Amino acid sequence: MDTRHTEVYVARVDDMADGDVTVVELDVRVAVFRVNGEFFAIDDRCTHQEARLSDGFVEDCTVECPLHASYFDLRTGDPSGPPAVRSVRTHPVIVRDGSVFVSAAGGAP
Ligand code: FES
Repeated sequence: MDTRHTEVYVARVDDMADGDVTVVELDVRVAVFRVNGEFFAIDDRCTHQEARLSDGFVEDCTVECPLHASYFDLRTGDPSGPPAVRSVRTHPVIVRDGSVFVSAAGGAP
């Protein structure tokens, strides 16, 4: 399936509170976070090893990898520092008619 321009339904806006995360499937597993009323989507896989970032601790606009504690900026996908050195891929989030969608047309890491 060509998912480059696919939108995938995530949730109703009202069904995700601040701090919530939902995982959807695009070409890969994608974690969608709600932080301070905004939505952010990143690949649900740390660029260091295989940890699921959806299991990480969210603070401000970052998520801490649950395995070795690199932080990733949810806006840019950039890591704060080692052991992760590569950015995680981000995806556009669309809010339309009270629903949240994520697009596969994301930035390359
Ligand atoms: S697996 Fe994420 S920092 Fe190591």
